[in-house]
Amino acid sequence: MNIGVVGTGHVGLITAVTFAEIGHDVVAIDSDKEKVQQLRQGQAPFYEPGLQAMLESSLASGRLTITDDPAEVGAKAEVVFICVGTPPKATGEANLIAVEHAAAGLAPHFHERTVIVEKSTVPAGTSRHLKRILKHARPDLGDDLQVVSNPEFLREGHAIEDSLKPDRILVGADSDWALATMRRVYEPLIDKGVDFVATNIVTAELSKHACNAFLAMKISYANALARLCERSGADVVAVADIMGKDQRIGRSFLNAGLGYGGFCFPKDLAAFEALSLEFGYEFPLLREVARINDEALDATVRKVIDAVWNLDGKRIALLGLTFKPDTDDTRFSPPIALAKKLMEHGAKVIGYDPAGMTNALEELPELEAAVDVYDAIEGSHCLLLATEWDEFNQLDFVKVKELMAYPVVVDARNALNSKEIAAAGLSYFPTGRPSIVQEQ
Ligand code: UGA
Repeated sequence: MNIGVVGTGHVGLITAVTFAEIGHDVVAIDSDKEKVQQLRQGQAPFYEPGLQAMLESSLASGRLTITDDPAEVGAKAEVVFICVGTPPKATGEANLIAVEHAAAGLAPHFHERTVIVEKSTVPAGTSRHLKRILKHARPDLGDDLQVVSNPEFLREGHAIEDSLKPDRILVGADSDWALATMRRVYEPLIDKGVDFVATNIVTAELSKHACNAFLAMKISYANALARLCERSGADVVAVADIMGKDQRIGRSFLNAGLGYGGFCFPKDLAAFEALSLEFGYEFPLLREVARINDEALDATVRKVIDAVWNLDGKRIALLGLTFKPDTDDTRFSPPIALAKKLMEHGAKVIGYDPAGMTNALEELPELEAAVDVYDAIEGSHCLLLATEWDEFNQLDFVKVKELMAYPVVVDARNALNSKEIAAAGLSYFPTGRPSIVQEQ
């Protein structure tokens, strides 16, 4: 099938290369001419496991074309996926201007029956507006122009895998032919047994926010438990393991730590709350989830102070700057927020991340950048693990102890091996579990 993809960010580019991978002819469009050039040369603009190779192979096979010309998309595409950003406004609502511009910019070029797909995360009700502006732009096409909702559920760091083997494909549509067209798009995955869930548009739109808010709620529940475990002497990891054995609960997304970040959960939670209020329903649970998330960050700052005492002039080796491992994304990253707070307390923060250094320095130029992990640790008064990259589990803690000015490890993700750390003579302060304090 001929497919158009608007926007080549974390959702758009993954959508484009994976559709090419399953056999479609894809034209991806971006208004950023520099990015278009870079993509045409086969350079992925961000880090995502498997993306670089899949971009190269889809360009080489001719199944993927990159353009900045809307006419090229409109001339061929039977289905156009809108994958542009929906960033938060100051009020928390999603800013949908890029979605509107994308649809309006393409509308003059649609040649015949076209399905316009909301792939970006948008609030329930967005399709009403989209339909109106499309009808206004192309009254001649009548019902041959259809809007459907097809939210993505991919996680950064696992985006290719999540696109090719999703838990479900969700499509909200009002027309039979639009639904049938979407089924054809996903046929190669449906044939492999992936569940295709069809519903109405508003249900599909709302389900996306409902999923992300629920996952964020699980994380905040775990973080609230961590506060209680720290006060009572219980172990939050053991509690989560025990809870997880109950199939009704499940173990995933119960890892306490620094809290959630990234370009999805924080903005989606705020947008979901704003949407609820717009419909006249207060949803205070969502606000509480966000509050507990902020509290997790402050609890980590207090933990560092407790471990190191005065922060003025102290060197903190901050390991991990991205919002989660296996990505270079530092947008709404808890480690960056943590670095800012530590700096406000007078600490000198030396950051290291396997993939996110460039983005981190753009967000926080005051950060001192280490060239490698041991460079960050050398002379530091606290090793603070903020993102659970595998690399940090390979550390030689005997060497770490020799390099540090003060032997303290704060594990804000409960990802390190406490026994190894303690055996090397370092004090260990995890999150929501008992600390191991060495007599100095
Ligand atoms: C999330 C959802 O998981 C995807 O299903 C969804 O498609 C995506 O948002 C989106 O809306 O585009 P993502 O933001 O890539 O995906 O990352 P997650 O793996 O969900 O992690 C989000 C944050 O929660 C990270 O900061 C992570 O460190 C944190 N987290 C996750 C925890 O603190 N504890 C956990 O147990 C799990």
